[in-house]
Formats: sequence, C-alpha cells, structure tokens
Amino acid sequence: MTVATATRPLDLLADFPAIPPGWAYLDTAATSQKPRPVLDAIARGYGETYATVHRGVYQRSADMTLAFEAARERVAAFIGGKPGETIFVRGATEGINLVATCWAGTQLEAGDRILLSTLEHHSNIVPWQMVAGKVGAEIDVIPLTPDHRIDLDAMAAMITPAHKLVALAHVSNVLGAVLDAKRACQIAHSVGARILLDGCQAVPRLPVDVAEIGCDFYVFSGHKLYGPTGIGVLWGRSELLEAMPPYQGGGSMIDRVTFARTTYAPPPGRFEAGTPHIVGVVGLHAAIDYVDGIGLARIHAHETALVTQARDALSQINSVRLFGPDDSAGIVSFAVGGVHPHDVATILDEGNVAIRAGHHCAQPLMDALGVPATARASFGVYNHAGDIAALVKGIERVTRIFG
Ligand SMILES: Cc1ncc(COP(=O)(O)O)c(C=O)c1O
Repeated sequence: MTVATATRPLDLLADFPAIPPGWAYLDTAATSQKPRPVLDAIARGYGETYATVHRGVYQRSADMTLAFEAARERVAAFIGGKPGETIFVRGATEGINLVATCWAGTQLEAGDRILLSTLEHHSNIVPWQMVAGKVGAEIDVIPLTPDHRIDLDAMAAMITPAHKLVALAHVSNVLGAVLDAKRACQIAHSVGARILLDGCQAVPRLPVDVAEIGCDFYVFSGHKLYGPTGIGVLWGRSELLEAMPPYQGGGSMIDRVTFARTTYAPPPGRFEAGTPHIVGVVGLHAAIDYVDGIGLARIHAHETALVTQARDALSQINSVRLFGPDDSAGIVSFAVGGVHPHDVATILDEGNVAIRAGHHCAQPLMDALGVPATARASFGVYNHAGDIAALVKGIERVTRIFG
C-alpha cells in the first residue's frame, strides 16, 4: 500500500529508539514516543548542565535559568503568544484546573453558565463541574453534527449572555474532529464569553497560532508533542492573567513575604509556585525544535494521509463501524461489530500493533455514540503505510476469530 499524499511520506522511525522494527505504535493520542534529540536534551539537562533556576547566583544556575526562559520564549513563539503569557504547568489537566480555579472561580457567579461540548475529555469537563458546583453556575453542552464535529451552528443558537465561559477541544482525542477554532471564538465573544481551547491533540498535529485564532486561554501537554511527561503549557491573555489570583502558594511566585502580608509576582511567575520541572521544560524546547524542524504542515499532511488510508481500508471490512469525520486529524476511532474493543486491542497486540481501547476519558461522548468504548488508532510522525497494513491485517484476524 502507498500513502496517497502530495508530499513525500515522513520517514523518521530511525529517530525513535523506543520503536523496534515491526512494532506498529498507534497510540500517539495517549502519549507520543520520544525522538533522539529530546532524549539527548533530557540527558544533558540532568547531566552536565543541571542546576536550579531563578535562584542561584553561580554561573551554572544562571545558564540553566537562561535555558529555562529561552524555552518559554520558544514555546510562546511556537503557538503565537508572548513569553509573559506562557505558564509552565504539569500538563493540560493542570492548565484547565488553573483557569477553572483562578479565573472561573473568581469571575463566575450563581446563575452564570459554562458551555462545553459533547466530545470533551474529562479534563475539560470535571474542573468546570467542580467550579460550577462551588459558585452555583450551570453547564450546557453543545451537541455534535451527524459526522461527529462540534456543531457550531447549534453553539451559535444556544449561547446567551449568561454564558461566561466556553471550553472546547481544538481536536477531539477520540474522533480526531478539528474544530473551526476561529469561528468558535467569534461565537463565544459575540456574547462576551471567554473561551479556552484544549489543544492537547491539536498542537502535535496542526499549526496553532493563538493570536490568529483569537482564543482567551489555550492549554496543551508536552508528552503528546514528542516531549517529556509532567510538563505542559497554559497560555492566557495577559489582561486576564494579570487579574487572576495565584493558583498555589510557595517559592518563586511571590514579590514580598511577611507574616502580615504577601504580595505576588506578576504572571507567569505568579502561577509557577515551587521548583519547576526544569528538565521537562528543556525537553519540551527540544521537542518543539524537532517538530518545527519537520514542519507542522508536513506532519498534518502525513497524518491526514494515514487517516485516509486507514479509514478507506477499515470501511471495506463489513463489521467495522467508523466514528468521526473523514478529514479527522491523526486519529481514527472504530468498533468491530460484536467484539469488545478490549478484545480487539488484545488481538492486535498479539500481532505487534498497539492501539488504545476504552472510553478515552470521554464517557459522555461514548454515551452520545451509544457505545461503552471504542478502539482507537492514532498516528504520529513515525507511522507509515506498513503500520496501517498491520492494523488492517489485525482487524481481519479479529473478524476471523469472532466469526
Ligand atoms: C483532548 C485532551 N484533553 C486533555 C487531556 C489531558 O492531558 P494530560 O493528561 O496530559 O493532562 C488529553 C489527554 O489524553 C486529551 O487528549
């Protein structure tokens, strides 16, 4: 099989020591494998360059501080933001919790409404439920179109001035559906609502420019972007961040501490209490350099071609039901009639194909699709046509085993 794409398929397997020959790793939406330059940056970070940041007066610490802040500039430029608006967090989950606690928790009042969509990850549902419960706000849910996108016409029809916050996935982790993020922001702003985009699955797959999109907050996790675990990013408009109280108290986030009173540092430091994940930040910088070196437009074309190939092949197997739109970004969810997705994944694993099976932290979406779980194949820069062939062969074996 050949991948039908205008550009040449990527051929980067050699950069990924964790992927042995013959193993089809199709779980990048859960977490990506790491390329050699990221592994090297992490080894150097804990090796010959290691020291704390922002505190030491000795040269090594000053150098590490420069590297840490250079990474912030790199991340900001990567998503079209400014360094002062770019906060290092543990991951998208922490970024959303931070906005829920520090922005929604202080801005929303009883009777206000929050607008989410049917396809959100639990990370973009539960923090809003927690804050809504505290302040007395209500949550509304945007339905999906028949081809499983967030229905923006429905959003435009249901949003009211009582909606103070909208929070949507830029790319669905289950369906791969890509949000028209600019339009979603325009609709949110038309009633004066703020909008947070969950960019976990978008940042590794599409060029993202927060200024062009026009959102108010944007979050993503480093480990899905070929970087380390435990590091992620919250970007927010500076006027919103300036007005927000700190998330946690501790070292680094202060201006002046006395027992009578503490004043806080300006953002981003205000939201980065304690010693940060220094080497995580350094590794994230290397990951962004790696991804930018390939080019997100090329990555997107590569993954889109793999999605098309996978959907075409799977749709020819009678018992397979595909979810999500045909132009989904890098992610294909499916069900094999009469077979639990866990059995599908187990049989595929016997053939060296690693997929995810389950509710993908999106139980309300499973309810809407009318299934308890799906099987999900998700792609990264290292995948190739051979992986799709192995997937299809595995599914054919599943159908033979289960008759
Ligand atoms: C769309 C989406 N949002 C949020 C998350 C949560 O990311 P993390 O667990 O890295 O904080 C994920 C992870 O699967 C995701 O895919």
